[in-house]
Amino acid sequence: MSTAVTQDQAIIPDDIAKSVILPASYRDETGIVHPALKWLRENMPFARAEVEGYAPIWLATKHADIMEIERTPTIFRSGLGEPYINAVVDTEFLKTMNEGRRGLDTLANMDAPEHTKIKNVTASWFMPANVRKREEAIRAIARQSVEKLLSYDGEVDFVKDIALHYPLRVIMSLFGVPQEDEPTMLKLTQEMFGNSDPEHQRTDVPATPEAAARAWREAVLEFHQYFDKLSADRRANPTHDLASIVANAEVDGAPLPGSFVNGYYIAIATAGHDTTSATTATAIQQLAAHPEQLRAVREDASLIPGLVDEALRWASPVKHFHRIVGEDIEFRGRQLREGDSLMLMYPSANRDEDIFTDPFSFDITRKPNRHIAFGYGPHQCIGQHVAKLEMRILFEELLPRLKSIELAGPVSYVQANFLSGPKTLPIRFEAA
Ligand code: HEM
Repeated sequence: MSTAVTQDQAIIPDDIAKSVILPASYRDETGIVHPALKWLRENMPFARAEVEGYAPIWLATKHADIMEIERTPTIFRSGLGEPYINAVVDTEFLKTMNEGRRGLDTLANMDAPEHTKIKNVTASWFMPANVRKREEAIRAIARQSVEKLLSYDGEVDFVKDIALHYPLRVIMSLFGVPQEDEPTMLKLTQEMFGNSDPEHQRTDVPATPEAAARAWREAVLEFHQYFDKLSADRRANPTHDLASIVANAEVDGAPLPGSFVNGYYIAIATAGHDTTSATTATAIQQLAAHPEQLRAVREDASLIPGLVDEALRWASPVKHFHRIVGEDIEFRGRQLREGDSLMLMYPSANRDEDIFTDPFSFDITRKPNRHIAFGYGPHQCIGQHVAKLEMRILFEELLPRLKSIELAGPVSYVQANFLSGPKTLPIRFEAA
């Protein structure tokens, strides 16, 4: 007989569940989200949340459990639903898109064998050796960002003026998108993934859940229109950029269908910059809070990769990914049913006391640093080497030029439960 706990015995107290699921909680991750995640790790590490307006969902908060779920993709599926959770009203809306199949044809929505074939289209392009060939081009963008920062004469909003633009320019240059189109890309990404943040919503629609879903769709359609033109150009005039690889890809002897080409672009364009900008801003915020670590990394550039990894662990800008259970199964003493949803809480895994010594301390010398901010298993982030390279280069260029950094006002955060991080980071700095 199964000893699995019945589902109602595993229901998370409402205040804790809301603290983790509601987008508004992420405006205060330190004060609201992290204490709730710590409580869950200690008391209900794998349990069910039933928050009004959201379908019931299992929350996985331990590093080991998340890794086990991610390494078992035949049971914990990505292709049976959207990659991140939505309020019920948005989920219903998404089902009406893309001929009722799925919101977007992107890697994060697929299972093998489809996922493997589509990921292989760009897998070798994203390998470290190929990505490093872009180092000089990326360094030139980093230098421009540093000069821009220094031009602010001692005070700047590090997010709005620097961190949001640098990764966007990097990812767009890898694609081959011209610089003048970057503001459009920035706006559309924020509408898609910061869409529960009132400041990022389209202004031409009222702020109701239905309207937010409609706005999301509008943003997707605008992306499609833009990238359809880019693809047509790269088919006519192929180069070595990422857009040429995707636009001219063949899978099973046939060209990649248009919705998959666009899905690729959208995934890379969106996944590739908000995440990195949130991590970069978090690194600067933490260096402001720890002047001794700023001094150490300025004196010894070999500490920069450690800074990048610790900022990734600390920020965990991707707050969760979503899986759907493909068959009835017992997991961690709970009876899961086919179709149940799971939320993999990366910020929690990355503060797990069983994995990290003193997890609530920011320490650029932490070794080992086994964070899973890029996920794990077959869906692990395809862009991780790009992200690490561009952050390393920015800090190599920036830190020697900054003698001191301090906060110059309150920090605010994006109100979103999927991609979130600092929205404003006012700093005062002394140039070296
Ligand atoms: C700080 C930067 C970044 C973080 C923290 C991050 C995090 C993640 C995470 C957690 C996943 C899901 C992994 C899983 O399900 O196991 C993911 C997937 C993905 N990321 Fe990133 N990412 C970052 C930067 C990038 C960049 C720069 C790109 C593109 C150039 C990118 C493209 C993607 C794509 C396409 C996927 C889907 C992969 C799949 O499902 O197979 N990401 N990322």
